[in-house]
Amino acid sequence: MSHRVYVQTFGCQMNEYDTELVRSLLKERGFVFTPFPEQADVVLMNTCAIRENAHNRVYGHLAEWKAMKQSRDLVIGVLGCMAQNLKKELMESHPVIDVLAGPDSYRQLPDLLTKALERRERSMAVDLSEYETYEAILPERMPGVNAWIAIMRGCDNFCSFCVVPYTRGRERSRPAQGILEEAHALAAQGYKQITLLGQNVNSYQSENVTFARLLSDVADIPGIERVRFTSPHPKDFPPALIEVVAHHPNVCRQIHLPLQAGSDRILDLMGRSYTRAGYEALAAEIRRQGDIALSTDIIAGFCTETHEEFLETYELVREIEFQSAYIFKYSERKNTIAYRKFPDDVSEAVKSERVTRLVELQRTISAGKNRQLIGTEVDVLVEGNAKKSSHQWMGHTESNVTVVWDKDVTPLALGDRITIKVEDASASTLFGTPVPSLASVV
Ligand code: 5AD
Ligand code: SF4
Repeated sequence: MSHRVYVQTFGCQMNEYDTELVRSLLKERGFVFTPFPEQADVVLMNTCAIRENAHNRVYGHLAEWKAMKQSRDLVIGVLGCMAQNLKKELMESHPVIDVLAGPDSYRQLPDLLTKALERRERSMAVDLSEYETYEAILPERMPGVNAWIAIMRGCDNFCSFCVVPYTRGRERSRPAQGILEEAHALAAQGYKQITLLGQNVNSYQSENVTFARLLSDVADIPGIERVRFTSPHPKDFPPALIEVVAHHPNVCRQIHLPLQAGSDRILDLMGRSYTRAGYEALAAEIRRQGDIALSTDIIAGFCTETHEEFLETYELVREIEFQSAYIFKYSERKNTIAYRKFPDDVSEAVKSERVTRLVELQRTISAGKNRQLIGTEVDVLVEGNAKKSSHQWMGHTESNVTVVWDKDVTPLALGDRITIKVEDASASTLFGTPVPSLASVV
């Protein structure tokens, strides 16, 4: 009988994509999937290591699964960045784990799980590769409107706070040909919106194909209506990429541009290779070329950050007016450059206070921008049910703001492209009504 697998994913979109790769690799070898952990023979967690709270959530689930394992046969596997980061340490501290596999070792997973199921053998695969891109493995995607494609893996930037170069290894790009074939296949299957993923997409390079060219080629594919990407690095931002975002009709006019901090001393300690003025100039140039929405990531309370330096970040956030921002408390990660070289000396209380102040500022900015849209019409892709009610649809504007509206107004299907008249707005969501298209009026 086929073994039933339950898998849960934490972390970024790249991890969601990796889970789809894992599903494909396991399905090929006869495993089947269940959405219910209580019915599974194998439970897997694809983990994240970016901040300490990502680790803590995994420990919480391991405790639950340990209890489940006491009453029946169960194989427990931990995949992803935390597995790669902690390796043997995690295996030794948690005897309940049977299999550990890092992001470059998923081809071995079917064998490791089989050994655990048949012979109760514990094993671990955590070698990083310079070449693995899982080329030719077609991810087992969830049906819908959105699909993600990893165009590269790993990261060579070594920002001093970041664990990713240690958990995902060296940077490698997938050949453009394979990516374009995958995108064509997705269009044929009815996916309408593609997000291209990489830790630093502007260093994508495949023979003579740059990221700007790849983005434009994916957006040219008939049937693909919207293309997004995440994330570019503000250093060496190619002008050609701004041009494609500003002018290609199928590329969403939206760029996620991680800022991290607004003080030059902190940016330097972080190893970000750009200055406050450099970032400001880039943001201005992006906006000069088109109506492009900017979003960002910020870390508050990095090593030795003073109150004045925090205020520099605060002022820059106020000045740039991002559409949205993810704001994080600095979380020290073992083995990173910051861990080895700088003291994690901002207290938890101060980090929390700085995060709260930035979140409040950003909420005011986002709410203001969204309120300006009241009375206007926005172009939306129908993506699924609203989180709060199955009687409402949910989609996004090109600038990636969530839009919610009642289902009973106009009959619609997933993947439809419609115009919504905005009637109300919060900091995160627009509410409105579909504008009848000419076709439905006639
Ligand atoms: N502590 C807090 N936030 C971090 N990020 C990365 N590493 C850390 C860390 N050690 C944030 C950065 C990055 C986003 C994905 O996560 O802002 O852009
Ligand atoms: Fe994604 Fe980074 Fe978390 Fe890994 S550590 S899952 S790359 S966010």
